[in-house]
Amino acid sequence: MSSRYRLLVDNASQVVQICTDGEKFLTKGGMKNLSVMENASVVIGRDGLIKAVGPAEAIRLQYSEAAFDKVIDAKGMCVLPGLVDAHTHPVWAGDRVHEFAMKLAGATYMDVHRAGGGIHFTVEHTRAAGASELLRSLASRLARMLRAGTTLVECKSGYGLDLQTEVKMLDVIEQARRTQPINISSTYCGAHAVPRGKTVAEATEDILQVQLPRLKELMSAGALRVDNIDVFCEQGVFDLDATRSILQAGKDLGLNVNFHGDELHPMNSAQLGAELGALAISHLEEVTDEGIAAMATARTAAVLLPTTAYILRRLPQPRARDMLDAGVIVALGSDFNPNAYCCSMPIVMHLACVNMRMSMAEALAAATINAAYALGRSHTHGSLEVGKHGDLLVLDNSRWEHLIYQLGGHRELIRHVIIKGHLV
Ligand code: NIG
Ligand code: FE
Repeated sequence: MSSRYRLLVDNASQVVQICTDGEKFLTKGGMKNLSVMENASVVIGRDGLIKAVGPAEAIRLQYSEAAFDKVIDAKGMCVLPGLVDAHTHPVWAGDRVHEFAMKLAGATYMDVHRAGGGIHFTVEHTRAAGASELLRSLASRLARMLRAGTTLVECKSGYGLDLQTEVKMLDVIEQARRTQPINISSTYCGAHAVPRGKTVAEATEDILQVQLPRLKELMSAGALRVDNIDVFCEQGVFDLDATRSILQAGKDLGLNVNFHGDELHPMNSAQLGAELGALAISHLEEVTDEGIAAMATARTAAVLLPTTAYILRRLPQPRARDMLDAGVIVALGSDFNPNAYCCSMPIVMHLACVNMRMSMAEALAAATINAAYALGRSHTHGSLEVGKHGDLLVLDNSRWEHLIYQLGGHRELIRHVIIKGHLV
């Protein structure tokens, strides 16, 4: 006889619910005061959705243990929503460990870029790699992310910069979406850099006239699902006008606008994002006060990436406190890429607290509900509320803050990663 429910996580010391009161994100005070229940349980149905979250006693009265496929005794442990990583570049061949040495010796990101390294180095290797090799390395990176607690991850293309390789990358992401347990939001980032030998105008023309029309065909045929469009809006890369035309064309195809802006120079990217109704802008190390105000009004999420300033050393830290005070929806991402080789959102939250002065509650909200909002998925992911996906973590500690307090070693701390009620 089949049971009526998939999973009971019983009697956890703490369940961090992250209540949203029907909103799709948290700001200001809502991020500071997360709802945490003591001695509580979570019920996940056979459809993988959350059926109940409440005091363990009350859940025991309402549900018999025999009605579950599986019961986890979570006494002395705590339960959190699965983490959401709102910004990664996980499809590539050829690492850049040699550039790490250059940066330690003082080179800037743009010095490396001009010396023929950086994105262009990775583009060369990714163009030469076969799809199966790219899928293998992507799957192993996604598995590492999952073990570190990420249950929903954004994955960008952008190391092809030509039709063939961009489609190859998006196809690899699509195959991962269909075969890997982790949830994926996929992003077309054909405007990640200007290909060698092309001007900005030529690269923009290629994206508008060749790449996007082909994506449209593949998407309508159901061969590919793409969720977001991204551009690297930066001096010497795509200027504001080129960025606007590419993002607008993506938006016309129904993609969420979610791009790199105001990273190395103030570009008025934040204002452009607000004007276009962008769901999110990443980086923002050089955002202005006007840009912050525009994002708060437009409800454009700021995806802050603490690994970037940490690794590049010469960049200012993202202005998390100014954004939080202004009511911006602040989210976090690992920025996993060959420059910032970090698969771990617990480490990202730790860096956000120490270097960007966020509180642990703010960092957790930024790495769950707000990161899900940045991907247009906060109606289904990012908090433990009835009707949402049963994606959660069980920590081998009675206090949830240990997920951020402990720097590394999270494989021992995270006892279970659960996606739609299944242990993965
Ligand atoms: O988000 N800023 C642009 N893109 C990436 C870096 C990509 C790379 O260096 O390969 C980022 O940090
Ligand atoms: Fe990036």
